[in-house]
Amino acid sequence: MDAQALEREALSAIEGAASPVELDEARIRFLGRKSELKQALREVRDRETGMALNAVRERLEAAFEARERTLRTAELEAVFAGGEALDVTLPGERPRRGRLHLITQIRREIEDIFLGLGYEVYDGDEVATVFENFDALTTEPGHPSRLPSDTFYLDEGTVLRTHTSPDQIRVMQSRQPPIYMVSLGRCYRRDTPDATHSPTFHQVECLAVDRHITLADLKGTVLHFSRALFGPDRDVRMRTSYFPFTEPSVEFDVSCFLCGGEGCGVCKHSGWIEMGGAGVVDPDVFVNVGYDPEAVSGFAFGLGLERIAMLRHGLPDLRLFWENDLRVLGQF
Ligand code: DAH
Repeated sequence: MDAQALEREALSAIEGAASPVELDEARIRFLGRKSELKQALREVRDRETGMALNAVRERLEAAFEARERTLRTAELEAVFAGGEALDVTLPGERPRRGRLHLITQIRREIEDIFLGLGYEVYDGDEVATVFENFDALTTEPGHPSRLPSDTFYLDEGTVLRTHTSPDQIRVMQSRQPPIYMVSLGRCYRRDTPDATHSPTFHQVECLAVDRHITLADLKGTVLHFSRALFGPDRDVRMRTSYFPFTEPSVEFDVSCFLCGGEGCGVCKHSGWIEMGGAGVVDPDVFVNVGYDPEAVSGFAFGLGLERIAMLRHGLPDLRLFWENDLRVLGQF
């Protein structure tokens, strides 16, 4: 066998291979088990010939490897240059980052305010008995809020809660005072949706029951709460009102956070913004949950979360909270 001629022949086959497949064919032919070179190596008898043939084998292997790299690179370049170009270095598309709904943000903020005061957060059911939602709160039998035209009844004795006040009853029924709790969540009323009404909305309820609780404790708590929400310079005022489950009952206002009390569009030029209802817990409510009204007293208040959000951000329409338009929700 002429080793030199073989090497020349192999090298030109390597150079001539136009694809990795052709190159593999040449590799089998010149370096495969049955190739002339491998056969000669098996039959070699003297050291000199052996070394020479091995040198040829090593050079050919190196040449195959080099040619293979060239062909593979060319193949990739052809793919990139062609129509099916795939540029793996292009920056990817970032997935959009979600965020909490504005109402959820406010809900958590209020929970934090009360946790800071040592209150517990109670998670009440949205389904309530008529006893919890109305009777125990001493709502008169003929009260219009009990009508099926105002309230969603699941059956005669069960409703979707129309406010968070039934959570007062559930907490008091489940344990003895002292109680310092807030409850936040969805409520339901049979209202036709418009800018200021929604059949589903959110409230926060606050209840404190202990010895010697007075209206002054209510005012101090509401003041702290209003300042935490609307700024340290706020003031609150209470106006007499009526709720079946408090005596006395008040509505409380916060001084306008926009004009500071001067009068502006947000406070309708009164300097005050209506916040919610409140009062000293009616002794009859204590009787209904088995507490001794001589031994304990309490205060309660409740208000809507949507209202807080709308005031804070100047939102014009309650329906924005339910439409889930990311152009709106993404701003908060
Ligand atoms: N539940 C009342 C409502 O939905 C709000 C309210 C008023 C809650 C007075 C209270 C309260 O706890 O003491 O309009």
